[in-house]
Amino acid sequence: TLKKLIDVRDLLIAVAKKAESMMMNAEADVLIKAQTKNNTSDLVTEYDEKIEHMVRDEVLAKFPDFKFWGEETHKLHKEVITDAPTFVVDPIDGTINFTHGNPNFCISLAFVLDKVPVVGVVYNPARGDLYFGMAGQGSYYTKHFDLPLQFQKTQQLPMRRAPMPQMPNCLLIVEWGNERQGANWACRTSTHNKLLTNASEGGAMCKTIRSNGSAALDFCYVAQGIMDAFWEGGVNSWDVAAGWCILKEAGGIVASCNPGDWEPKLQGHCYLAVRNAKEEEQKKVVKTIWENMQDQKF
Ligand code: IPD
Repeated sequence: TLKKLIDVRDLLIAVAKKAESMMMNAEADVLIKAQTKNNTSDLVTEYDEKIEHMVRDEVLAKFPDFKFWGEETHKLHKEVITDAPTFVVDPIDGTINFTHGNPNFCISLAFVLDKVPVVGVVYNPARGDLYFGMAGQGSYYTKHFDLPLQFQKTQQLPMRRAPMPQMPNCLLIVEWGNERQGANWACRTSTHNKLLTNASEGGAMCKTIRSNGSAALDFCYVAQGIMDAFWEGGVNSWDVAAGWCILKEAGGIVASCNPGDWEPKLQGHCYLAVRNAKEEEQKKVVKTIWENMQDQKF
């Protein structure tokens, strides 16, 4: 019910606020102490783990019947995403930035029904940016927030409502992920290359591509309207779940990277997101990216 979704949203916003001091008071030696997971680009810190445990405790105390799927504990508890009501959590998205003192990181908190994100909360405490959205209720942005949120001035997304340019003038955002070999890596590098260099109708494929190091924030920038489209091959569900809901509520679309799949569920590893625009223009961008992807099933 709507009332329950509102309770979930308010809880996730309160949890994001609680994580703020845990992130902002991190010791300066966080980079040296960070542990590598699969390779030196795949990091976990004690803060990722502590925050994930805090989030898990808080949400399961209020909603004990719901499932929990978090970046740092899913392997430990062998959770897989199912159709059941599930919290999908990345305690720190942009961990590499976090360890370097770079402010592009956030906590990403989603609530997912039937593998579709229906509540999304993304909070970057270093910049004070809070984004949140709920299915059918729109998505919003606010800066340097305090609780309770109803006294805070919020702005509905998208904040930038200029029409989306044609593909040769689009500003795309992609990510490098944390693999440096294998099929995903080959697909990523070849697709980035084609998106930057392929000539279309005498011009460049897109204006240029950017990379910020946090897929969750990338989705929010697309929702805001300050990036036109996002593509990442090999991304995980917890990186995109919250931003996905925020973006859709801002009039954006999320497609899978498998050509023809316009209505993906939260179970794949490659997504394409386009900002608020006319549907045919959004679809044109998706199709152009599909055409420029190395052939690979995700
Ligand atoms: C990573 C970031 C990065 C993306 C990777 C993710 P993490 O998440 O979102 O932008 O390229 O695929 O794993 O490890 O910082 O939580």
